[in-house]
Amino acid sequence: MATMKAVRVHAYGGAEKMILEEVERPVIAADELLVRVHAAGINPVDWKTREGYLADFLGFKPPFTFGYDLSGVVEQAGAAVEEFQPGDPVFALLPLSRPGAYAEFAVVKAAEAVSKPDSLDHAGSAAVPLAALTAWQSLFDVAGLQSGQRVLIHAAAGGVGHFAVQFGSWVGAHVIATASTANLDFLRSIGAHQVIDYTAVRFEEEAGEVDVVLDLLSGETRERSWPLLRKHGILVSTLPPEPPAEMREAYHVRAATMLVKPDRLQLEEIAQLIDSGRVRPTVQSYPFAEFRQAHQRIQTGHTRGKLVLVIRE
Ligand SMILES: NC(=O)c1ccc[n+]([C@@H]2O[C@H](COP(=O)([O-])OP(=O)(O)OC[C@H]3O[C@@H](n4cnc5c(N)ncnc54)[C@H](OP(=O)(O)O)[C@@H]3O)[C@@H](O)[C@H]2O)c1
Repeated sequence: MATMKAVRVHAYGGAEKMILEEVERPVIAADELLVRVHAAGINPVDWKTREGYLADFLGFKPPFTFGYDLSGVVEQAGAAVEEFQPGDPVFALLPLSRPGAYAEFAVVKAAEAVSKPDSLDHAGSAAVPLAALTAWQSLFDVAGLQSGQRVLIHAAAGGVGHFAVQFGSWVGAHVIATASTANLDFLRSIGAHQVIDYTAVRFEEEAGEVDVVLDLLSGETRERSWPLLRKHGILVSTLPPEPPAEMREAYHVRAATMLVKPDRLQLEEIAQLIDSGRVRPTVQSYPFAEFRQAHQRIQTGHTRGKLVLVIRE
């Protein structure tokens, strides 16, 4: 039996519940790839899953292997796969119901795998799928953001936010971005037109009217954002609860919560933007053995860009 190392939990709880163990290497179906993982992205959903908050929603229970973002090399291609072969460098978002990237090998549907951007190493590539697709799907699929519109991005310096700033700027929107003092220059450097230090001012005093709010925080930040929206504007949130109808009606605006999903064509387009130099992930890497420290760090809610676990140098 072929085995591999994987980071797993057998019971919900803190980072100490995560263990590196030897498990059976997955077996692929005809339309799947077995990928030798070089790097895995770390996302807030990982610690929320570890603590059991999303158990009912995601539909799986311990034991499970973490991780939705991966970059690696095809080890084996299923019998029906034509577009990839062993040795091809790929990156992918795994479906939310089927994590497994914090491991030496992972299974990816060939239809959801994309050739890795040439201009990034595996750590850089693993930083992209979940956060960039969330930003893309929120801004373009849900909000329909267009050139000339004004977009307010909350938590703009984080994983999703720093892609959203770059996509908003690329499409020609006026990007207003919130963060703490230490991240303001960073936001300017990635294309924000207007930055707001939420530790120094109330963002609603500086933002002005906007067509789109990207809400990556929910709670009070969301509540204070409604009055900023222009009539028929839209607030897109990545977090529950579902925005109440009263708010939409009171402000004559639209609102939606979104859930990211794998999308090969979108990820290919994002890879092209990266290779053309227009979009760049900001990455902080952790060696595989430091998976607990990486989880403790993402759980602070104050990281810049993306955290990544380097599984194979
Ligand atoms: N629905 C979905 O499909 C989906 C997909 C992806 C993510 N999400 C969720 O969306 C949220 C954002 O994800 P993420 O990966 O971007 O998180 P993240 O990387 O952990 O976000 C961290 C950022 O949040 C900023 N921040 C914290 N409090 C803030 C405040 N009051 N105002 C402005 N910025 C603030 C921090 O900036 P400072 O350090 O400067 O404070 C930091 O840069 C998470 O809750 C995640 O679970 C949902």
